Amino acid sequence: MEYKTYMADRVKTMKGSAIREMFKRMADPEIISLAGGNPASELFPGDELSKIAGKILMTNPTLALQYGTTDGYPKMRDCARQRAEKVNSVGANDAILIMTGANQGIDLTAKALLNKGDKVIVESPSFIGSLNAFRTYECGLVGVTVEDDGMSMEGLEDALKNNDGVKFIYTIPTFQNPTGATMSLEKRKKMLELASKYDVLILEDNPYGDLRFSGEDVPTIKSMDTEGRVIYTGSFSKILSPGMRLGYIVAPSELAEKIEMLKQVNDVHTPMLTQLMCVEFMKKYDIDSYIAKNRELYGKKCAAMVSAMEKYFPKGKVKWVTPEGGIFLWCECPTITDITPVVDRCLEKKVAIVPGSNFATDIFAPSNMFRLNYSSATIENIEEGIRRLGEVLTELL
Ligand SMILES: Cc1ncc(COP(=O)(O)O)c(C=O)c1O
Repeated sequence: MEYKTYMADRVKTMKGSAIREMFKRMADPEIISLAGGNPASELFPGDELSKIAGKILMTNPTLALQYGTTDGYPKMRDCARQRAEKVNSVGANDAILIMTGANQGIDLTAKALLNKGDKVIVESPSFIGSLNAFRTYECGLVGVTVEDDGMSMEGLEDALKNNDGVKFIYTIPTFQNPTGATMSLEKRKKMLELASKYDVLILEDNPYGDLRFSGEDVPTIKSMDTEGRVIYTGSFSKILSPGMRLGYIVAPSELAEKIEMLKQVNDVHTPMLTQLMCVEFMKKYDIDSYIAKNRELYGKKCAAMVSAMEKYFPKGKVKWVTPEGGIFLWCECPTITDITPVVDRCLEKKVAIVPGSNFATDIFAPSNMFRLNYSSATIENIEEGIRRLGEVLTELL
């Protein structure tokens, strides 16, 4: 049976994430993955959470196992508010909704805002999950180059000037996925100014903001928003556990009301058990000291990766900027146009990296870039993975 003819236009042009495809091949335990976006599992508070989950199910099974409210368990909303207020990112007219991961918040915001043919300005490259969410609403994606200090503001102004129907700018200003770049304060202010001038909204996605291991924090765009133009999304995935699927959105009440209705249709509510577990975890333990341990580990892993890159990569053939936080390192190979043979050869040598084309607005355009992740592999595997990658680069560049 040929299913293509039955499929909606909105899914016809979607391409699966190369990362997910790679995961299928990565069942091989010998493969060293520098590909995914997984946080370090060695620090997961498994013991603490198993005791908490057991206690919740023993003492309050009805609350944990019954339907909950769509906007989130109130104490979980308080936890999300606490995180967002820590970075001054809750405005006077904002509501907070608990989402089944930030992914859902991004998807439902797009669903609430986009008509077919509207445009979204995105960083190029950007997070594939968000790009794919936007694509399903049949909108146009306008990519703007990411520089070492974040999205190009000249590029943004050109994009706003030359495109009708732009609804919002999607940005990951801190430790961007995939580039690891952090937008400067000046650029954040400029983005707000341009959004106001061209009357568009901003969707600020900040799942990595807590993971700084060097340099100084930069205020969120949301914290400087005086017009209610910024919708902010945060996540517990990289600071507690991605499997618990806890994220949140801070949005003006009028918009939040619509997003809540869409969530009702989508999944009714985020699982109560993981919401209750997070609330108890934050009550019993200091989540900031848990995050601090992660930050320290990521700083060490990043340093190990960079020193292995300096040792094993062919000199002068690969460019990168060392990030100050987050979980990704972005590399460019200026002497070639397409990184695909490198990625394929790496898989033969049992190391996985992600080609840059995966994060582009035009997924069919070749890319000479690739993304590395340093949070999930062990330091030994990071060194061995980079050694193998270095051999491939030396062979093919
Ligand atoms: C930039 C960015 N936004 C959002 C998400 C989704 O996070 P969550 O697990 O909360 O859905 C990710 C996950 O990797 C991400 O990199």
